[in-house]
Amino acid sequence: MSQFAPDSLRIRDMRLRILPDARAVSLAAAEIIEAAIREATAARGQAVLGLATGATPEGVYARLAERHAADELSFRHVTTYNLDEYYPISPVDPRSYRAYMHRHLFGRVDITPNRAHLLDGSVPESAVAEHCAAFEGWIESDGGLDLQLLGIGRNGHIGFNEPCGLSVDEARRLRTRLVELHPVTRADARREFGSAEAVIPTALTLGVATILAARSILILATGAHKAEAVAAALTGPVTAHLPASLLQSVSPRVTWIVDQAAASALPEALAAASPIG
Ligand code: GLP
Repeated sequence: MSQFAPDSLRIRDMRLRILPDARAVSLAAAEIIEAAIREATAARGQAVLGLATGATPEGVYARLAERHAADELSFRHVTTYNLDEYYPISPVDPRSYRAYMHRHLFGRVDITPNRAHLLDGSVPESAVAEHCAAFEGWIESDGGLDLQLLGIGRNGHIGFNEPCGLSVDEARRLRTRLVELHPVTRADARREFGSAEAVIPTALTLGVATILAARSILILATGAHKAEAVAAALTGPVTAHLPASLLQSVSPRVTWIVDQAAASALPEALAAASPIG
């Protein structure tokens, strides 16, 4: 990511943009992703993106699909790796992230099917560890992630790396694996599953280590319900109890784009943040 808007701030050495609303966040994020695709394609012949699901990036994917429909953007040289997937789940279950990605992006652009990767919620239980290790191996053999797109959970999770009591060092070494979802995550997944009880309680997630290794990290948050997590991740201690705070440990590679509602618990920190000249 090379060009940053003049409204960027720097906080704990991370870039932060605060925009009026969710639509502005989506447009700004899509612009950065498009620039990353162009730069990486020009430099290495392909762009490797880490992608996220959830409500937050829907507008980003809509914008990227729009740019493709207008003949302004191609995904022919783009390879993608998604952050997470419920487990076990069928890839054609509409609640699966595989189905989500097809609806919002893959089915609407010219990406090559064998370059759009998700962790597979239908592998046998005995093969989960092998599958997770293979997924990391694919990312590595593609040269690593040029850009990792992230959302943030209300509990500060990234991907499905949930709050936990590990030391910072241990948390930073977490690999791709099967995890149990946190109660707040299950409550928030009611949107897809109808009730918290119906949410599949386990999932596969890219590890913190793989996320932090991305050459750039773009994290988005919109809405007042994210304000506490955003403030803690940007201004609180680095701790595995709030996984998004671990991004502070790779700060120069991190850009936050949030709307005013998600920034509403930040005022004091903002006064201390320095504008990027
Ligand atoms: C979900 C996903 C995350 C996502 C986060 C925020 O459960 N596993 O990858 O970033 O929680 O979701 P939303 O954007 O819907 O608030």
